[in-house]
Amino acid sequence: MKPNSSGKKVAVLISGRGSNLASLMDAADGSYKIILVISNVAGVAGLDRARDAGIATAVIPHAGKSREAFDGEIDNLLRAANADLVVLAGFMRILSDGFVRGWEGKLINIHPSLLPAYKGTRVHERVIEAREALSGASVHFVVPELDAGPVIAQASVPVHPADTPQMLADRILAVEHKLYPEALKLLAQDKVKLQNGLTVFS
Ligand code: GRF
Repeated sequence: MKPNSSGKKVAVLISGRGSNLASLMDAADGSYKIILVISNVAGVAGLDRARDAGIATAVIPHAGKSREAFDGEIDNLLRAANADLVVLAGFMRILSDGFVRGWEGKLINIHPSLLPAYKGTRVHERVIEAREALSGASVHFVVPELDAGPVIAQASVPVHPADTPQMLADRILAVEHKLYPEALKLLAQDKVKLQNGLTVFS
């Protein structure tokens, strides 16, 4: 796509407070514009943040639906909005292989660990239990296997001996808020792409 005044159209999928969504909204420059926020949970703070900024929102509950049916509803909204890129920001559902393949190279996530270490849940608990000296955040392309996609950008933070999981989560969240917009800008400016299963910079 040729760059234009408003840049790539970005849809953000959330399930909760939306602090990463807020950092992406604040950092939006000419390279991307957030045009739609979809949540699977009604009433979450992230939806309020979007509405307050005049961004279109939608709630698609997942309960009682097959994964494919749920993902299909999301896909329909994304296509109707002409989204170029889809950003997962605290979206707590696993997406079906079909959905992921349909958005291959255009779908990214942020995970609060130094991937490929500590995929999945209870990340900070496990990092502390293992007495790691470093943890951090990773932005990656989404592939069907959970948290296994090629990494676009990472940032590390120290793990202190007295850390609780919440303390570590907060320290990592602060770097997420810088890392995610930078990674999204690279993608929006076509400076990074997914090619043959690898992250390629140009
Ligand atoms: C972040 O820690 C992110 O790494 C993880 O979920 C959390 C979302 O937080 N995927 P928020 O909703 O963006 O505040």
